[in-house]
Amino acid sequence: MESKTKKRLVVVSNRLPFKLLERSGKITLQPSDGGLVSALKSYFDRHATDAEFSEKLWIGSADFPEKRWEKFVSLPQPETQSFEIEPIFLETKLYSRYYNGFSNATLWPTLHYFATYAVFDSAYFEAYEQVNRMFAEKLAAIIRPDDVVWIHDYQLFLLPELIREKFPEVSIGFFLHIPFPSYEVFRLLHRAWKEKIVRGMLGADLIGFHTHEYVQHFLKAVRMIAGYDHQFRSINMGDRIAKTDLFPLGIDYDKFHSATQDEKVIGQKNEILKNFSGRKIIFSVDRLDYTKGVTNRLSGYERFLELHAEWHKKVVLVLVVVPSREIISKYNERKNLIEEQVGRINGKWSTLDWQPVIYQYGHLAFDELCAMYQAADVGLITPLRDGMNLVAKEYVASRVAQRGVLILSELAGAANELGEAILVNPLDIDELSDSINKALTMEVPEQREHMARMQKRLVEYTVTDWVKDFLDQLKEVKVLQERRKLKLVNDSIRKQILTDFSKAKTRHLFLDYDGTLVPFARHPREARPDEKLLTLLEVLASEKHTEITIISGRNSDILEEWFDDLPLNLVAEHGASIRMKGEPWVHGNSIDQTWKPLIRPSFDMFVQRCPGSFVEEKNHTLAWHYRNVEAELGFVRSRELLDNLFHLIRNAQLQVIDGNKVIEVRVAGIDKGSAARKVLERKPADFVLVIGDDKTDEDMFQALEHSAITIKVGPGITQAQYVLPTQKEVLGLLTQLNR
Ligand code: UDP
Ligand code: G6P
Repeated sequence: MESKTKKRLVVVSNRLPFKLLERSGKITLQPSDGGLVSALKSYFDRHATDAEFSEKLWIGSADFPEKRWEKFVSLPQPETQSFEIEPIFLETKLYSRYYNGFSNATLWPTLHYFATYAVFDSAYFEAYEQVNRMFAEKLAAIIRPDDVVWIHDYQLFLLPELIREKFPEVSIGFFLHIPFPSYEVFRLLHRAWKEKIVRGMLGADLIGFHTHEYVQHFLKAVRMIAGYDHQFRSINMGDRIAKTDLFPLGIDYDKFHSATQDEKVIGQKNEILKNFSGRKIIFSVDRLDYTKGVTNRLSGYERFLELHAEWHKKVVLVLVVVPSREIISKYNERKNLIEEQVGRINGKWSTLDWQPVIYQYGHLAFDELCAMYQAADVGLITPLRDGMNLVAKEYVASRVAQRGVLILSELAGAANELGEAILVNPLDIDELSDSINKALTMEVPEQREHMARMQKRLVEYTVTDWVKDFLDQLKEVKVLQERRKLKLVNDSIRKQILTDFSKAKTRHLFLDYDGTLVPFARHPREARPDEKLLTLLEVLASEKHTEITIISGRNSDILEEWFDDLPLNLVAEHGASIRMKGEPWVHGNSIDQTWKPLIRPSFDMFVQRCPGSFVEEKNHTLAWHYRNVEAELGFVRSRELLDNLFHLIRNAQLQVIDGNKVIEVRVAGIDKGSAARKVLERKPADFVLVIGDDKTDEDMFQALEHSAITIKVGPGITQAQYVLPTQKEVLGLLTQLNR
């Protein structure tokens, strides 16, 4: 019997895990640099066989010629290879505009808060779009419907949407390895670019970031640029939801920890210790990048040497800079600046037997890197901005004896998890200098305590946990989408509703107003029904044995003004006032207004503290609306107001409703559920349909769950049987009932 095919994981990133070098006809592999490759490669190596994925494929752009690749694949391949590689070959000029241009001269500086370094060139963006499209074409030829596609980083922002267009159902994850900046910075990108970027990312089912802050910044950009709101980090796009969350990238802890037992590494470490015997070693390693703060770090070290002559000849800074993106002028310039500064420091203090800075420009192999981590007394990692920074975590993991001190920039994502490091502002030269002194003089017990805590955290969330966490959540999003889809009013459900409606002898429709029959407006007064809606309601309500009840939080005056001429039942203020067709209004017994002065001052104070909000006073209700307030401020203030109100109403017979951008207070004991039941008792029917969008409508869904078809409009958890994604679709359904 054939075994059930397991799933395939398709990883897509610009950078492949290795470069192919050719010297004298011989091809060799050189591992690529950077945290992205480092993380994914560690995961793949550890999980050569996988319970979940029978195959793994890594797609990326090749920075070697196609011929070299063909020659390479014709050679016998090592059996240990745990994944397949599929390179994409791009024409040099196009690649340069996409990679050196838009990716690394526009996006990289902007997203790292170096907007003044950014080059804004439409030709770069065109190339970027084109390459993203080429990736999509390549994937289209490869993807199978049950594949899990995981796209990585800013070079491929547009890809999720491009794949989604071709494969609406496939699982797509996207992870950003660099910061997502505050909206004030992100908005500096040209309008069309940022729109395409945000929409591109939203093509994924799950969008992951390293930190909570980046998630918040992204959600704000989504709201401002695409106009989509979110609930608990789920973004509702009408026909689809996407989720976003934080997944702080971890390292292969054991690999670094166990390297301390490796003979080769131990040999190299001892060599280093011998070379610098009698001196403390400070170590730093970064790609050549202005975001890494190397020149500031050198200035901090220079200040330290100025202020602390007692450390002369007793300390050495080993500074390794790994070549990166050298064609881009901002990178190339940086190399010269670093080398001048190293020259100056060494020129100032070197003696025959001491050089304060040992500088190396080049890549370190894994063994060499581990030997340095193990030999160094201090890890000095001070980027001006960094999405995460794995070097900091690797240094901590390498300190088996739990000695050593990490000095870490507070502007690296890793600072969120490594709070026991000496956290520094990398721009503050004096602080850098002080922190070096503090690190060098820290007592061993304190070093141990800090290292132990950080190590515990790193063991608990390794790169394997990171991958698992991300892929598990991706699966959960798919389940959520499926569940939502089951509730969606699809063709067959719609047909059933229409058939039941036409066959029924008596019918009753309960329709909420705002957000159900009309879209929300800036001010409640502006959301008046148009002629089309009035005609639709009139014709429907004029059908034989058909009752329509508009059931709203609005007051009786406004409902009367708008619907007086129509043969409808009206329920105002969530049930406090009811007017059956052809009869006068019956107001509840809560004409008592004495509670209002208790609440009103709080509402007025929040109007002052929250520009754009306003109070609506109804007969039985006070409402504070914050729809027109900047979203974040509105949300925070609304939570504060709720808190205030719960204290105020503790001993009063009042009820607080946390509605859709509105907080209402009314006399307790009134709700749409009881009101709908009351109306239905007067006008019973064998077909009952209830449609609403807000929390207050949930009372109706619950109260009539056994006697009605219930439909919720829009996102959010609901007790209703079915869901219509948008308000417009309500009108579509009512129009169909009308035929
Ligand atoms: N790395 C390496 N050899 C080097 C320098 C760095 O293998 O000479 C690896 C290092 O182990 C780390 C990654 O490159 O895993 C750098 O990741 P990080 O997140 O610190 O910075 P990025 O380069 O991604 O900005
Ligand atoms: C960072 C980026 C990666 C990139 C790496 C190396 O880690 O997030 O996407 O691969 O730097 O940069 P490079 O341009 O050489 O790929």
